[in-house]
Amino acid sequence: MLKIPRIIAHRGSPKAAPENTLASFRRAAREGAAWVEFDVALTLDGRPVVFHDDALDRTTDGAGLLADISFDILRDLDAGSWFSSAFKGEMVPTLEEALELFAELGLGFNMEIKPSAGREVETAEVALATARECWNGPLPLISSFSRLSVAAAKEVQPGWPRGILFDRVAEDWRDVAAKLDVVSVGANHRHLDRELIAAVHADGRKVTSYTVNESERASLLFSWGVDALFTDVPGAMLKNFP
Ligand code: G3P
Ligand code: MG
Repeated sequence: MLKIPRIIAHRGSPKAAPENTLASFRRAAREGAAWVEFDVALTLDGRPVVFHDDALDRTTDGAGLLADISFDILRDLDAGSWFSSAFKGEMVPTLEEALELFAELGLGFNMEIKPSAGREVETAEVALATARECWNGPLPLISSFSRLSVAAAKEVQPGWPRGILFDRVAEDWRDVAAKLDVVSVGANHRHLDRELIAAVHADGRKVTSYTVNESERASLLFSWGVDALFTDVPGAMLKNFP
């Protein structure tokens, strides 16, 4: 059975460093995180990179869609200055760079497949094939809101545990989870309750929850049985939930 730590650093430590950058992952490790979550998406020319949004505007000095620009152009963008001048020059990491850093720092990870519309299968296939090549560490968790992406991950790397993500858990979650053979069901913490968590456990799966930055809320979720939560403040959470 996959061992998932209770506290997972969401996009690194995004209150202290620009999200989904190597600096953010280093910071999460310094704060004591055992695992980080990150998002992986494809450039126009099909390179897997660590990036959350569809658009470049919020977290780089570029504009337009990630899916519309080539890797070479993406790498000229600054993914740190929007956060603070101290991070000027930080780049959007490749998937390979992120995994190499995790190995160096002893971090485990949850890779969330974040496909652009129409590239659900391709994104999972490329990300899993790439990750398989460069990761020899402990089993990661591979997740997505996209059922197509989770199914493709299962095809490429069946031995790596999978999770299906929801905002509000869908009525048919049992069928979806069984079909995709997932170890975890993830949900927005605002839409979780004790009964649903117990039902997922009774179905033999773990419950993950995002994005929880308040310790009081985390306490309640843990008291309901949540197995792991994603947080933007890993250091603070780990103080309360070591
Ligand atoms: O995987 C948990 C969480 O990261 C899902 O939402 O939008 O932050 O990728 P988002
Ligand atoms: Mg994510």
